[in-house]
Amino acid sequence: MKAVRIQDVSKKFGDVLGVDDLDLDIKSGEFFTFLGPSGCGKTTTLRMIAGFYYPSTGKIYFDDHDVTTLQPNKRNIGMVFQNYALFPHMTVDENIAFGLEIRKYDKKAIKEKVDRIRGLVHLGPYGSRKINELSGGQQQRVALARALVIEPDILLLDEPLSNLDAKLREETRIEIKRIQSELGVTTIYVTHDQTEAMAMSDRIMVMENGVVKQIGTPQEIYHRPNNRFVATFIGETNLLEMKVQSINDETITVANENGLTLQGLTENLAKGLQVNVGDEIYVSIRPEAFESGAGDNTISGIIELTEFTGLSVNYFLKWNNTTLKAMIISRGTAIKQAGHTIDLHIPKQNIYFLGE
Ligand SMILES: Nc1ncnc2c1ncn2[C@@H]1O[C@H](COP(=O)(O)OP(=O)(O)OP(=O)(O)O)[C@@H](O)[C@H]1O
Ligand SMILES: [Mg+2]
Repeated sequence: MKAVRIQDVSKKFGDVLGVDDLDLDIKSGEFFTFLGPSGCGKTTTLRMIAGFYYPSTGKIYFDDHDVTTLQPNKRNIGMVFQNYALFPHMTVDENIAFGLEIRKYDKKAIKEKVDRIRGLVHLGPYGSRKINELSGGQQQRVALARALVIEPDILLLDEPLSNLDAKLREETRIEIKRIQSELGVTTIYVTHDQTEAMAMSDRIMVMENGVVKQIGTPQEIYHRPNNRFVATFIGETNLLEMKVQSINDETITVANENGLTLQGLTENLAKGLQVNVGDEIYVSIRPEAFESGAGDNTISGIIELTEFTGLSVNYFLKWNNTTLKAMIISRGTAIKQAGHTIDLHIPKQNIYFLGE
C-alpha cells in the first residue's frame, strides 16, 4: 500500500482553474475522501492521481516516487467510475479478469484471483452471469472487484454509489468499507454526499471552487469547522452574525442587534482566529446542540413550527427576533406545537465561533 503526496498542484483548463494550489498527504492504508459541491475539483484531483490529467504545476508522489507525468497503466491503481464502465455483454468473471489478462497472467492464476475477489465482494455464485442481467448494486460490486483484482497500491473511487437507490447506497457503502479495511488498501473516495463521507472516511478534504476549505477527521470537520462553508455544507447549523461583547481566557460573550446574547468558550474559536471586543464574528450552533430546560444560554422561545421526524422533534423558534432550529431527540415525551413557548438552553461547549 502506498502513501500519496500532492505538492503545490494546480490544474488549469484554459481560463478555468479546476484545482488551485493543492497540498495534501494521504497516508498508506488510509480511507480518504474528497467532499464538495459539483464542480469543486474532486474528479480533476482524482484524475491527476490516476494519471489521466497531468497537473499544470506541482508534483504528485506515491511514497517517494515522483509519478507526476507517469502513464496511468504504470501506476498500479484500481479505479471505479461513476458509471462503472463495465462490458455489458461479458460475464462477471470476464469483466473482473480484464485487467489480469492485459497484464498477461496465466489462466490458472487468473481463475484463482477472480474466484477469490468474487467471493470478497459477495458475488460467489454469479461468475457466469452477464452484466446486463445484474442489479445496479451487483454491477457496482463487479466494478469494485475489477479494480481490486489487480491488487492496486491505491484504489480510486469516483462517486461509485450515485446510481443506487438510498437503501442500496447504505448497504454498499458498508460493503466498500468492509472490503477496504480487510485489504488495507489506500483508498481515495469522491462524493458530494456528506453523510457518506462522514460514515466511511478516516479523513475528509472539503473543497470549494478548486480550493481546500478544511482537511480533518469526520469529527473535526463536523464539530470544529474552520469556516462558514464547512459548517453549513456538513450537517445543519444555525449560523448567526454577532458582535464580541467581552472575551477572556475562558469565555467569550457575543450579542446581536436583536438583543440575543450568548456565552461560549474561547477554546471553541476556529483554528487561528483572533478576536477583540467589537469584532463581528459568525456563531455556529448545531440544531442538536440545544437541551431541554434552563442552563447555560437559556432560551425561552416561541415555537413557529414543529416537525416530528420519528427520531427527533424539530422546533423552529423565535427568540429576540432571531430564528433558531433546535432538534430534540424524541423519547415519547410531549411535543409542543406552534404558538407555545419552549424553554431550552445551549451548553457553552456547543457553540462555535468562526471568522470567515
Ligand atoms: N476537461 C475539462 N475541460 C475544461 N474544464 C474542465 C474539464 N474538466 C473539469 N473542468 C472544470 O474544472 C472544474 C472542476 O471540475 P471537476 O470535474 O473536478 O468537478 P467535481 O468536483 O468532480 O464535480 P462533480 O461533483 O459535478 O463531478 C469545473 O469548473 C469544470 O467545469
Ligand atoms: Mg466529479
